[in-house]
Amino acid sequence: MGSLDGRVAIVTGAGRGIGRSVSRLLAAEGAAVLVNDLGSAVDGSGCDAGPAAEVVAEITSAGGKAAANGADVSDHAAAQALIESAVEQFGRLDVLVNVAGILRDRMIFNMSEQEWDDVIRVHLKGSFNTSKFAAIHWRGLADPSGAYRIINFTSVSGLHGSPGQPNYAAAKMGIVGLTYSCANALSKYGVTVNAISPGAVTRMTDTVPAERRRAGFPDDDERSPDNIAPIVAYLASDRSGWINGRIVHAAGYEVSLYSNPEAVVRIVGTGPWQFDDLAAEVERSFGAMLGRAG
Ligand SMILES: NC(=O)c1ccc[n+]([C@@H]2O[C@H](COP(=O)([O-])OP(=O)(O)OC[C@H]3O[C@@H](n4cnc5c(N)ncnc54)[C@H](O)[C@@H]3O)[C@@H](O)[C@H]2O)c1
Repeated sequence: MGSLDGRVAIVTGAGRGIGRSVSRLLAAEGAAVLVNDLGSAVDGSGCDAGPAAEVVAEITSAGGKAAANGADVSDHAAAQALIESAVEQFGRLDVLVNVAGILRDRMIFNMSEQEWDDVIRVHLKGSFNTSKFAAIHWRGLADPSGAYRIINFTSVSGLHGSPGQPNYAAAKMGIVGLTYSCANALSKYGVTVNAISPGAVTRMTDTVPAERRRAGFPDDDERSPDNIAPIVAYLASDRSGWINGRIVHAAGYEVSLYSNPEAVVRIVGTGPWQFDDLAAEVERSFGAMLGRAG
């Protein structure tokens, strides 16, 4: 018995890296997996049906159930067809894992409009597109006791603010907002929505200097994308219904829960603030919290 027996999952960006590892584990745990991948280069250019087909071959030769899909998730109509295709081929849909992504790194002062738009389009619009049509499907089932799951992918680049990735950081924090909004909107339809912040050596991290990429992970096996898959499988299972609207970081053998944003210091005036009064109070109260000198 696998922990995902009888469940059907779509994994986007599943032809390589983390998506491939996730697809293989979900299938090994008994899920039927629609392996979606456009087969683009890291910068989003080109397309190739090969990577998705190879992952399907790996899964089926190991006795699992999978089919390939080459949709570009940033295309609204193609994302709709992707969701419908899972239901047509496997009879149902339980899990959507939004992994697909690209990089166009540049400092803010050098970034072109195209580099900004493309990264926002693939990550943020792509996650919106698939989530929207999965949500329409699940709302139509009217099954509040269901165990339906959306698992998005965010990044420490956004959570901590990587200086050379303003487009990617913004897209990944947009995905956090999308996760919170969908978690609140969809729980009454039996859907939970969470996000993973992964750390793994893939082609996407090739541009990070080797010593930083491997920091704290002397063993290459530990940095494998295979180590992201177990927490995704857990969140994809019917056991995880109690966790909703949360960010989970996974890297190597560590899995950590991030806090959700909340006010940490509050100052409340008795009427409209005057500049000098507000400046003094902000510097005193927020300053103490942030370790401001003087
Ligand atoms: N590797 C890391 O350490 C790391 C860190 C933080 C976040 N992430 C995120 O994890 C996810 C997976 O990254 P990875 O490292 O496995 O990268 P990867 O480049 O190995 O895999 C991404 C896959 O997405 C596919 N893809 C790109 N655009 C697509 C589109 N429009 N439609 C469908 N498929 C598309 C690519 O063809 C590729 O196979 C991404 O969302 C990435 O931002 C990765």
